[in-house]
Amino acid sequence: MNTKIDDDKVLIAPSILSADFSRLGEEIAAVEEAGADIIHLDIMDGHFVPNITFGPPVVAALRKCTKLPFDCHLMIENADQYIPAFADAGADMISVHVETSVHLHRSLDLIRERGAKPGAVINPATSLHGLSYIVRDLDYILLMSVNPGFGGQAFIPSTLDKLKDLSALLDKLGSEAMIQVDGGIGPDNAGKITGAGARILVAGSAIFHHPPYGEVIDRLRKPGS
Ligand code: DX5
Ligand code: ZN
Repeated sequence: MNTKIDDDKVLIAPSILSADFSRLGEEIAAVEEAGADIIHLDIMDGHFVPNITFGPPVVAALRKCTKLPFDCHLMIENADQYIPAFADAGADMISVHVETSVHLHRSLDLIRERGAKPGAVINPATSLHGLSYIVRDLDYILLMSVNPGFGGQAFIPSTLDKLKDLSALLDKLGSEAMIQVDGGIGPDNAGKITGAGARILVAGSAIFHHPPYGEVIDRLRKPGS
């Protein structure tokens, strides 16, 4: 595991969903060079979300293009069936949606057994209720700030209140789980999101549609710079 994710800075995770799919390897190398901390890979199955992306063979192929940690955001049904394949393909972090996990605790355990950091994801309309029972079993919680399925959507403002509530809950529980936020993030709202407690910012279109990548990554990490 790359040690960069173990210090205190805000971590920027470009989502390659908005990259040029005909040049994914080059795009990943370019964001690594530009200062990205984590590569976010959006895995969609056309059932849990209304879109289809790619699976373990593509993750394994891309693994050769960078040393950065790979974060696989599984927007799929039957995640347990595929977690081993994503871990074997080189995922360092794997998150599963609580809305589609019948046995979430088992899924998180499976991810850890397979050597990756486990995360739980919650959709914009899903409550934080219940997270306190599994917080010890995960390394990060991903708050979706758009409805999953597509890049380039607008940030849902109520995420900020939810983020503050989640930060307070984690403090109360003495948890060191990291909070990741995903969807509609750009330099204009990044400061509010990190100010409310987010540690990892996922950004797709704000980075890949607005080169040079280094400038936008710096602005996401340090808004106002
Ligand atoms: C949405 C994905 C996001 C998405 C973010 O389902 O999980 O990671 O790619 O894209 P932007 O930053 O464009 O909202
Ligand atoms: Zn994502």
